[in-house]
Amino acid sequence: MIKLNLKYTKVAHKMQKYQSQIDNIHQVIIDRTGEGNEMLDWYDWANKITDTEINAINFKIKNLKTINKIDTLLVIGIGGSYLGAKAGIDFIKGKMRADDKIIFAGINLSGSYYKQIEEKLKNRNWAICVISKSGKTIEPAIAFRYFSDLLEKKVGKAKMKDLITVITDQKKGLLNDFVDKYNYQKFVIPDGIGGRFSAITAVGLFPMAFAGVDIIKILNGVRKANNDLKSNKLKDNIAYQYAVTRYILHKKNKLTSEIFITYSEDFLMLQEWLKQLFAESEGKKGKGLLPNSLTYTRDLHSLGQFIQEGKKTFFETNIWQESEESEIKILKNDLDLDNLNYLEGKTIDYVNKQALKGVVKAHVENGNIANIIISFKRNDELTLGYLWYFFFIAVTCSGYLLKINPFNQPGVEIYKNNLNKNLRIKK
Ligand code: PA5
Repeated sequence: MIKLNLKYTKVAHKMQKYQSQIDNIHQVIIDRTGEGNEMLDWYDWANKITDTEINAINFKIKNLKTINKIDTLLVIGIGGSYLGAKAGIDFIKGKMRADDKIIFAGINLSGSYYKQIEEKLKNRNWAICVISKSGKTIEPAIAFRYFSDLLEKKVGKAKMKDLITVITDQKKGLLNDFVDKYNYQKFVIPDGIGGRFSAITAVGLFPMAFAGVDIIKILNGVRKANNDLKSNKLKDNIAYQYAVTRYILHKKNKLTSEIFITYSEDFLMLQEWLKQLFAESEGKKGKGLLPNSLTYTRDLHSLGQFIQEGKKTFFETNIWQESEESEIKILKNDLDLDNLNYLEGKTIDYVNKQALKGVVKAHVENGNIANIIISFKRNDELTLGYLWYFFFIAVTCSGYLLKINPFNQPGVEIYKNNLNKNLRIKK
């Protein structure tokens, strides 16, 4: 389903030395005995989620669209309660198409952003899906208060019950008080699945289903990866191979940053999702690789100079789609003033592929930058589910290689608490 090419890292031959460490880590994951193991419920979630839940998600969306004539969903959530859905929708539907019918709020504290959403919603029939595991994160809480008030003014109190969906913890958090009081439809975020692993639960599935993504196929992709990535043997498990390679580049080659590279705007939010996954999982106790991201060829015309010739503290992990997504071709022009007729009949995606080849060669050979290539054929549901799960296994293994708990995020909580305190101080 996905391929891992480690040829351009020049460290693949060192991997086998880590087999015994991987044996231990594998056992710890399977037996659920490692640090943070109570947050491992994502591991076989795709086999546990019930048809009843999937049907309920699809039923609610059908109901919103057909009975309530809803054309736009305002999804309120941040971090793990936002990035998976946004990444998934852009990946499958394409960024420009995706931006229209799903609007994400609660992802910042910018008044201007609120205003723009309000303007966009003016002529739409819209509903709200509010997502927060803790139910107390300030950004989505403020957005929920603001936009539910706006919706109530538009449709009236009685209609709100049909138009608000809540995705939150089974029992904890203030959103449950809203569900109890107003009888809003609710989907549960399982206790043992943290925010950054929750894209495969209702958190990601509900918004994606509204956008027309086939969520059953997403879960099939997750199941396939769960099945394929079960081996403790490095030679048979590409998620462990990837984890060990980035560990060697970090520890032995002393690199401090991993840059996720894509060649499509549609994968930009997948990169943002990856940054959260790796930063929150690895960045603690003074350890971890700083995850970063660049979109080529756009960023080759800005940061490209630094990447090629600047201080070498990083390696690149390319996420590359092999198949050509569109048939858009370069056409013949009779005057040929731009001297491009030699490209007549070539697709834009073909040119993109030549760019990848040229960039990897320039960076590896001239820049001495290790390059990992993770490639896949299609930007479809099966691939996305597979990719997500591949990265879940890889990041868990990476965390355990670094001897940290990959599942908590104490640093995020510090900021959240400070913000809450500051807002309560009377000035
Ligand atoms: O990974 C995390 O825990 C965070 O990034 C959360 O996903 C984010 O802060 C949102 O939290 P919540 O879903 O509780 O509102």
